[in-house]
Amino acid sequence: MADDTEERTEMGESTRSVHTAADPDERTGSVQTPIFQTSTYVQRDFADHTGYEYSRTQNPTRDALEAAVADLESPGVPAFGTAFASGMAAISAVTQLLESGSHIVAASDLYGGTARLFDDILSKFGVETTYSNLGPGELEECAQENTRMLWLETPTNPLLHIHDLKALSAKAHERGWLVVVDNTFASPVLQRPLELGADISLHSTTKYVAGHSDLVGGCVVTRDELLNDQIRFIQNTIGAVPSPLDCFLTLRGIRTLAIRMERHCDNAEFIAERLASHPKVTRLLYPGLKTHPGHETAASQMRRFGGMISLEVEGGEAGARRFAAASKLFAIAESLGSVESLVNHPWSMTHAATPEGRRLEVGVTPGLIRLSVGIEDAEDLWRDVENALDAV
Ligand SMILES: Cc1ncc(COP(=O)(O)O)c(C=O)c1O
Repeated sequence: MADDTEERTEMGESTRSVHTAADPDERTGSVQTPIFQTSTYVQRDFADHTGYEYSRTQNPTRDALEAAVADLESPGVPAFGTAFASGMAAISAVTQLLESGSHIVAASDLYGGTARLFDDILSKFGVETTYSNLGPGELEECAQENTRMLWLETPTNPLLHIHDLKALSAKAHERGWLVVVDNTFASPVLQRPLELGADISLHSTTKYVAGHSDLVGGCVVTRDELLNDQIRFIQNTIGAVPSPLDCFLTLRGIRTLAIRMERHCDNAEFIAERLASHPKVTRLLYPGLKTHPGHETAASQMRRFGGMISLEVEGGEAGARRFAAASKLFAIAESLGSVESLVNHPWSMTHAATPEGRRLEVGVTPGLIRLSVGIEDAEDLWRDVENALDAV
């Protein structure tokens, strides 16, 4: 559970990233939380233990990670983190709060794997999903008597739509729905959904939180003790827990999260501004640009605008392929949020599992490319992007 002192609220993002859940090990004074690489713990007598019985249920390295993410998502207000073996395991665990026969209202532009879970797995257990752009009046149109959950990403993957978390949370709560926000694209440094009304904020910690493309993980955070009890029960019952080593590496990533996010944002803003006036760019999506339809909402609920840019270039898919092939610093890869820059083709990669009709309907076109802008030098990145655009 997060430390709830006033001091924590007043600290800057970097101080909190460095110090959160970083108490020295009591026995040795080790500055870093040790990797408790154990499956089980010796008990003094039958069921007489230290609080640790079995590592699916509790592990000290995982405890430290869970406390750290909870603290970052909810400084000053007690919150609970529950870590999972991947972002999808975290998402799946949250959907297991639902009863069979319930209904989810979800934003139409979602990570492809989330939509696949909703459409191909949850539907088998009688949980249906309605997708919506959630514009004025649209949430009301999707509401059903059995709706229990509103599922949001903001900024969305890959179109970087911005949803107004305060307004949508209030509307959903009027109807008694749970509000879940996938905060992966923003990170808790840039956006804190629980402060804006969401019940649950979750991450693929694979991305910015860990930040080095060296592990897969997830974490769910809530301030609600009863919800937390249920999520913990699901974590232990389903068993999709992260390894102690992955928890350690994620914690190590967290120490530099705030400073990395500043650099990701600096670099993405720098590149987006230049792309905006480049003649070969035919569509540009970055919430930090004043021309982005969600700019004002993003400015009101995010500290900065993040490190992700999506764009289309001349020549559609062929142009996108030439761009990616010519870039030397943006590696073609799935994933995002790491120190190195990556380029992704949502149509054939991250969103290939989303039915073609829906991809086109929401605007995930064959020509769309998604840049995860890393923390390299901005001028080097721009030179690389300019060269790649020359090849288009
Ligand atoms: C927004 C978002 N949520 C969840 C996930 C799934 O996370 P993981 O790959 O860690 O399972 C991803 C993966 O790309 C993502 O982009």
